[in-house]
Amino acid sequence: MELNNRLILGIESSCDDTSAAVLRGTQILANITHTQLIHEAYGGVVPELASRAHIEHIVPVVKRAIETAQVSLKDIDAIAFTQGPGLMGSLVVGTSFAKGLALALNKPLIGVHHMKAHILSHFITHEGMTAPSFPYLCLTVSGGHTQLVVVHDALHMEIIGKTIDDAAGEAFDKAAKMLGLPYPGGPLIDQYGHNGNPMAFTFAEPNIPELNFSFSGLKTSILYYLKKEVAKNSEFIAENLNDLCASIQHSITDILLKKLKKAQQQTGIKCIAVSGGVSVNSDLRAKLQAWQVTNPELSMHIALPSYCTDNAAMIAITGAFLFEAGITHDQQISANAKLPW
Ligand code: KG4
Ligand code: ZN
Repeated sequence: MELNNRLILGIESSCDDTSAAVLRGTQILANITHTQLIHEAYGGVVPELASRAHIEHIVPVVKRAIETAQVSLKDIDAIAFTQGPGLMGSLVVGTSFAKGLALALNKPLIGVHHMKAHILSHFITHEGMTAPSFPYLCLTVSGGHTQLVVVHDALHMEIIGKTIDDAAGEAFDKAAKMLGLPYPGGPLIDQYGHNGNPMAFTFAEPNIPELNFSFSGLKTSILYYLKKEVAKNSEFIAENLNDLCASIQHSITDILLKKLKKAQQQTGIKCIAVSGGVSVNSDLRAKLQAWQVTNPELSMHIALPSYCTDNAAMIAITGAFLFEAGITHDQQISANAKLPW
């Protein structure tokens, strides 16, 4: 499917980022995101606060995206928004706003699946990157999902593996919380892990059949290990923070890599992509690159960090694919926290 030069406004509000983007064809003219820092103090996203913050920020964020793109709202061809999955109170804000704007401007409306958007984020044009070719194998790792997906084309995606408990991002964030780090802890584990030894500590490895993932055993193993060591030395975490972060990070990325490699062998697909917030992780990226270097027949697609974490650019590009396929929605569409695949 070729995307032409249509102008799409994308709106994302599924969790704690309020984001708006303007896309022409596959080129991003603006991608503005307001990240809610209010949740830091609570150790996780507080749904009620998230929804209030979206209400506060959605108008200025969309306004800034339109201004930055130097376009006029009347020139927009369609409005794409995140319909789900996500937090209901957060989704409702973006959905209501998109519906109202589409009605006022008499523009087509397109509801987008947040996880499919993460997967299609690779089609956003950016310097030095080539888009994957179909079919590709995508490891999607975010705060709420961990999936292995065969992307037959933009409209046909098949989940061949997923987590049976926590998501990879959750594993990072929960481990960080045990270390006393604020939410979201994933980026901090990455940061401290840079100066640590990934082999300093070893934690339980899951033994899950097929292409599914599990992180709850690892979480328990980290928790019991920390409890035992802190009982002996109350400064254990502070004294070993870098090594603990490097080791936890290594354990999580190792689980991801093993299943991705298995999926590659089983499917024989040579085009590999990774998406979602955890794909920003430097250790995961290094391992993927190392895998590609030793297997030059593989093409590896790792997006810019700003297109890995939640953003409206990926909603806009997915909207563009749907629009090209003639898929739009009417005013009956509603937010769906558990939007099916
Ligand atoms: O895709 P995303 O922005 O939001 C969801 O749809 O969930 O992913 C957020 C997750 C969080 O769990 C966060 O800790 C994790 O991505 N994350 C990272 C890094 N940057 C974000 N995890 C590990 N290393 C990072 N550098
Ligand atoms: Zn996401």
